[in-house]
Amino acid sequence: MRILFIGDIVGSPGRQMLQQHLPALKTKICPDLTIVNGENAAHGKGITKKIYHQLLSCGADYITMGNHTFSKSELKMFIQEADRLIRPVNLIPMELGEGVRFAQVQDKRIGMVNLCGQVFMDNVARSPFECMSEIFNRHAADLWFVDFHAETTGEKETFAQVFADRCVMIVGTHTHVQTADEQLMRGCGYISDVGMCGAFDSILGRDKREVIERTLYQIKTRYTVAEGPAMLCGVWTEIDDLTGRASFIERIQIRP
Ligand code: FE2
Repeated sequence: MRILFIGDIVGSPGRQMLQQHLPALKTKICPDLTIVNGENAAHGKGITKKIYHQLLSCGADYITMGNHTFSKSELKMFIQEADRLIRPVNLIPMELGEGVRFAQVQDKRIGMVNLCGQVFMDNVARSPFECMSEIFNRHAADLWFVDFHAETTGEKETFAQVFADRCVMIVGTHTHVQTADEQLMRGCGYISDVGMCGAFDSILGRDKREVIERTLYQIKTRYTVAEGPAMLCGVWTEIDDLTGRASFIERIQIRP
């Protein structure tokens, strides 16, 4: 079994990259399950109903989110019907949508979880470690996948080391910069950050002049998605059918 994950889609350059490259990636890798992080898909923050459907039509089976989940208020209007959307379990407001979903692939029940880290992250109500332990106690699945949306590699590695034995794939998202530490951690495919799909000549997918002005001169700016040629980042894992453990992991990075 193969799981393909594509990192944070940042605005229209990221969406275009997904549309352009995901079909060919799926033909090459033949994933049984494709998951995409869509928390920055709508103008850099949040997701709209139209974009939710657009990401699914590009070939995503499920869409995970992050700290910007509710940045577009219209999500609250359609989240209950968005049965392919997985929002962080521990992000406020916790009562809207689902943070754990299940997919039946071949004869396996795959549990998919989205959690936020607590370090340098706002609106996170509960410890991701407590939440994950609770999820294992409450739900049953043959294989577990986690998108751990967090700022620091230390928190991500700690999370992976704690839960690697119970999961087949733990991917870090949020920093938008792909790390080169992909590994099989005791049979769990792990990478600290998958990286983004967004404009290459940018600061994390955002307009670089705007970020520089804000950083150097404390000028209040809005969030403008950078334009121009974009990159796509992802990762995929092979899970051995006999052992039920990850046996291969590979990073994907397509640059302009
Ligand atoms: Fe984020």
